[in-house]
Amino acid sequence: MSAYDEMAVGPGPEGLAAALMEKGALTSDWLSSYEAVPRHLFVPEVIWPGRGGGNQQDDRVMRGECPEAWWAAVHRDAPITTQWDDGEFAGPGRGRIPSSSSSMPPMVFSMLDALSVEKGHRVLEIGTGTGWNAALLSHRAGAENVVTVEVDEGSARDARRRLETAGFGPLTVVGDGGEGYAEGAPYDRVIATCSIGSVPPAWVRQTKPGGIVVAPWGPVYGGEAVVRLFVAGDGTAAGRFVGSSAFMRLRAQRAVRVHVRKYLKGREWPADGVRGTTFLSPEVVGDWHVMFAIGVQVPNAFPWRESYEDGSYTLWLRDTAVTSWATVDYLPGRAEFEVYQSGPRRLWDEVAAAHRWWEGQGRPGFERFGLTVGGDGDGDGERVWLDSPDRPVPVVG
Ligand SMILES: C[S@@+](CC[C@H](N)C(=O)[O-])C[C@H]1O[C@@H](n2cnc3c(N)ncnc32)[C@H](O)[C@@H]1O
Repeated sequence: MSAYDEMAVGPGPEGLAAALMEKGALTSDWLSSYEAVPRHLFVPEVIWPGRGGGNQQDDRVMRGECPEAWWAAVHRDAPITTQWDDGEFAGPGRGRIPSSSSSMPPMVFSMLDALSVEKGHRVLEIGTGTGWNAALLSHRAGAENVVTVEVDEGSARDARRRLETAGFGPLTVVGDGGEGYAEGAPYDRVIATCSIGSVPPAWVRQTKPGGIVVAPWGPVYGGEAVVRLFVAGDGTAAGRFVGSSAFMRLRAQRAVRVHVRKYLKGREWPADGVRGTTFLSPEVVGDWHVMFAIGVQVPNAFPWRESYEDGSYTLWLRDTAVTSWATVDYLPGRAEFEVYQSGPRRLWDEVAAAHRWWEGQGRPGFERFGLTVGGDGDGDGERVWLDSPDRPVPVVG
């Protein structure tokens, strides 16, 4: 037992377990794995503690300098950022984009629950990160049945060491998890702990008929939820979304965002933008589940908010092809807002039409949506549906 196990600060593993069980986030089904695989064995020495549920991080905490703060952060019900900018930023402040983390415990256990993993199942995990999830999977399925793939060499090396120290030896592979790991296939279960906008065909191909793929899925626009796909024997897979999520993207599927200047082609805003007005408030289209519903209908476009000190802001919409942009100016207390649109896609009109569809369907949450994957190799065979596979969500753009 380490000095940290005995440390009388913060709630410790038992306190976190009690809090998670009270919320229903940790069930008796996973309690023995939680107890056998304490989170603190997998959290690096240098962390940026997250704030419960949100995507905001506190400043760097170093275990060597402040063991109490480190211990408290590990046993808080929050995600912990463990790497920024693919390892290029080390602190002391915060980097630009978090690139690895120990996920929030309720997310970890809800995804494991959705995976329905049993002793003896062959399991593939994409995104080893700290190794905690791989250890939990190893405890349940047997380490000899678990393969975990991590694109970041340093993270994979550290995770392998932590897994060995904790007494688990799953196969830890350095590589692009988008390719799966054919040498270990076929799998009963595949779980991704980084998000995707399209299901890599290899995951479906490498899963046995009747097997399950669990992955956070979200459109370029924003909004994301965990999908639970059942793999058929014909190269297709289908299933429902089970709950909201906010993971870092599989590296190969990160969207490249070009600066606003490129859209304006050297001119001052509003350049050649065509003026209009709207009664749809930009505030209404900013919720995570609404963004998901819009993003499914408005492909390859993304929002960005330019905020001002007086509480007003400009909502920018841009397409990934760098052909079209739109702005909507939000002013608190107003009912009508000024819009400018430029390019072949009228992006605000698309968003407004998508929002109307969502309202017309009774404002569905994530759980009414599902996904069918054709397994035909390029993602074109992927369809999001509402309530049942025969009701595909229309694409506006
Ligand atoms: C949220 S973290 C994973 C958390 C991890 N399961 C744990 O228990 O700590 C996401 C991880 O996915 C990894 N990742 C991103 N793209 C990847 C890819 N193409 N293949 C494998 N891993 C990838 C990141 O480097 C990062 O470590």
